[in-house]
Amino acid sequence: MNLQGAHILLGVTGGIAAYKAADLCSKLVQAGAQVQVVMTPGAAHFIAPLTFQTLTAHPVSVDTFQLLRDTDMAHISLSAWAHILVIVPATANTIAKLAHGLADNLLTSTALACPAPLIIAPAMDADMWAHPATQQNIATLHSRGAIQVGPAQGRLASGRVGAGRLASNAEIIAAIRQALGRTGKLAGKRVLVTAGGTREPLDPVRHISNRSSGKMGYAMAEAARDFGAQVTLVSASTGLAPVYGIQMVSVQTAQEMYAAVLQRVAETDLLVMAAAVADYRPKGAAAQKIKKADDDLTLELERTPDILMAVAQRRQETHHPAFVVGFAAETENLLANAASKLASKHLDLIVANDVSSSDSGFDVDQNRVILLRPDGAQEPLPLLQKTEVAERILERIAEWWR
Ligand code: C5P
Repeated sequence: MNLQGAHILLGVTGGIAAYKAADLCSKLVQAGAQVQVVMTPGAAHFIAPLTFQTLTAHPVSVDTFQLLRDTDMAHISLSAWAHILVIVPATANTIAKLAHGLADNLLTSTALACPAPLIIAPAMDADMWAHPATQQNIATLHSRGAIQVGPAQGRLASGRVGAGRLASNAEIIAAIRQALGRTGKLAGKRVLVTAGGTREPLDPVRHISNRSSGKMGYAMAEAARDFGAQVTLVSASTGLAPVYGIQMVSVQTAQEMYAAVLQRVAETDLLVMAAAVADYRPKGAAAQKIKKADDDLTLELERTPDILMAVAQRRQETHHPAFVVGFAAETENLLANAASKLASKHLDLIVANDVSSSDSGFDVDQNRVILLRPDGAQEPLPLLQKTEVAERILERIAEWWR
């Protein structure tokens, strides 16, 4: 993950949500990031600098006029050190100061001196957030490239319900990952990923589907985002939360996925078909719930369109997508089946995985795959978390692309 070794400067300002910044800080450190914290004097009323000092194993600075070491001016050295500046929570007051370039405390002077990308996670009462002054200040920060995460709707410290809650730490971390990856190996590329198992209706309450959890495809989408790509995820129904920072398109059936993909291939550089698309669907779904009878029931199934086959045909004319990846989930003859799909679907890469073992493949967090290329090259990867498998696959794609 690109948080490993990243220099994250965390600015904490004086709102009640400041306590949540401690959990964020801990999660970033656990993910391998180097975190340094700057607090405003207001923040130090809500949460002690010692909390962050302990979590980060770095001194925490609050005072502008305190030198870090000898003559080391904190606002200059911290702003040069940071790969990214993240302000969580960002109060209306700090947002206003940033918009106007004020430098009246260590955080605002550091921000003014900092060339790294800025992420702000506003948190305040709904009226303060909705005030035209705050909205104008936020617009000013956007126009300079600042990234805003939240605020969310919900219960506020005042007991009212409205917009002003701090975004979740999961969302803030995703925004940090995306911002850190903006110049990554797939920067400027448009990536289309499909994920999940399609559902083919039998009647209004029943469907035929498969055991795909969507986790591998979601991991591919997330990793592509963190490699700097502009990502669209066409997802069949999964139990997974939407991925931050990408365009989500929801579909149910193979036919809907076919339409969603074909509509977008001309503007796609890399297509990753990780979805488990049904090969057959019930012929003519019943309009009403099928009633049980004493006899057995025979279902007639018909073929669904093969999305990758259609993409291969389209590609002959448009030369898009430039790179197409398929997945082969097999229970026997893994390599032979994968190799024949690689050829018949005109793929640039097929990711073969044996879904008969219980520790990898369908419905679990880990996967053990073999990458196959049209020139016959094979690369087995060890058993890894799906997030790591996704990163390895994209690393290889970025290399082959060059
Ligand atoms: O043909 P099979 O389903 O075994 O091949 C798997 C690959 O083909 C996967 O990448 C899957 O997303 C894709 N596929 C497709 N259209 C279908 C069925 C599968 O594009 N109708």
